[in-house]
Amino acid sequence: MAADFSVKPVLTGDKVTLRPFAADDFPAIRAALLDPEVTRLTGSRPVAWDQAIEDRTRDWYDTRGAQPDRLDLAVEDRATGRWAGEVVLNRYDPDNAACNFRIMLGPGGRDRGLGTEAVRLIIGYGFARLGLHRIALEVYDFNPRARRVYEKAGFVAEGVLRDALRTPDGWADATAMAILAPDWRARS
Ligand SMILES: CC(C)(COP(=O)(O)OP(=O)(O)OC[C@H]1O[C@@H](n2cnc3c(N)ncnc32)[C@H](O)[C@@H]1OP(=O)(O)O)[C@@H](O)C(=O)NCCC(=O)NCCS
Repeated sequence: MAADFSVKPVLTGDKVTLRPFAADDFPAIRAALLDPEVTRLTGSRPVAWDQAIEDRTRDWYDTRGAQPDRLDLAVEDRATGRWAGEVVLNRYDPDNAACNFRIMLGPGGRDRGLGTEAVRLIIGYGFARLGLHRIALEVYDFNPRARRVYEKAGFVAEGVLRDALRTPDGWADATAMAILAPDWRARS
């Protein structure tokens, strides 16, 4: 049966709540998208922010709740009640019950266990409620923190994408990782 992405759930953990985006999240979202560490670790190019990008980005977040084939949720820090980051299940492949996953936490949200909990909550939802079989991602080799969080959640390294990214310091490899529903069930 096809996954039902029309439901945008609220998933509550000890440290984070995963929930749909709200209009007053936007200043924190903008700050995160402009954070050099986020830019570097996600392999993005620095952006010269202008009104057109502001409008496009606002529109993007305003429309996440209406997406029929992906799930984008805010990571709310329960300590502050504020937006701390986002988790995304995208590139849904219904034939193979598979999705891609990505996560990004802004400057105030990192290194406090929020990412570890957010990953577990969203992949648990992906397997238990969306009926996914496989959730995959790629992580650059200069991001061992992210890799550690993914391994803790049960993602397994499947291969290396050599020279996947050109950085100011040279070429960087990425590691392809995935977790399968049976892996997750065995751990839950
Ligand atoms: C990656 C990210 C989601 C991790 O979430 P987080 O809340 O910062 O991470 P946590 O605090 O939950 O856990 C970090 C883990 O990595 C470990 N860690 C931290 N720095 C590390 C490093 N340099 N090398 C290895 N492990 C490291 C921590 O010790 C911890 O593991 P532990 O619980 O076993 O002690 C978050 O930092 C983030 O969004 N970073 C910016 C964007 C990004 O990198 N996105 C992922 C792109 S693939």
